[in-house]
Amino acid sequence: MKDLTLRIDLKIYEYSELSDADRKLMDAAREATNRSYAPYSHFSVGAAARLADGTIVTGTNQENAAYPSGLCAERTTLFYANSQYPNQAVETLAIAARNERGFLDDPIPPCGACRQVMLETEKRFKHPMRILLYGEKGIYEVKGVGALLPLSFDADSMK
Ligand code: THU
Repeated sequence: MKDLTLRIDLKIYEYSELSDADRKLMDAAREATNRSYAPYSHFSVGAAARLADGTIVTGTNQENAAYPSGLCAERTTLFYANSQYPNQAVETLAIAARNERGFLDDPIPPCGACRQVMLETEKRFKHPMRILLYGEKGIYEVKGVGALLPLSFDADSMK
């Protein structure tokens, strides 16, 4: 028997400590929450992706009366980015969420399905994707999807 310990690294920033480019991206994610369609959960999530050429695209969660038919903000954003700009790596993805009381104190961790799609995007472009998770009390930064999805399944797992 052997032990295997996996370590993840993340940094926690105050909003004022972000670079201008990251602040702009985070503002876009926060602002996108206003365009969320969340009549069932009343939980509005916004995401903003900065692509390799500097383009910023945003997306929001889109709910449906048939609940599983809805989609999270992260996947809406990545699928849109990859549909419109199939040759541009996603360099950074910023995510923000608020409920009826406002933005959350602590960042929301993206759901498992979104992490899997983030991984595919990273692999597809062979480019690490930074992820910024907004919380009123601090912004988490991870330098790649590996930190959110250790022991992940990808195309190499089938070889
Ligand atoms: N949601 C997201 O958009 N992203 C996440 O990372 C977690 C959850 C959405 C899905 C649904 O519309 C609402 O939040 C409640 O789960």
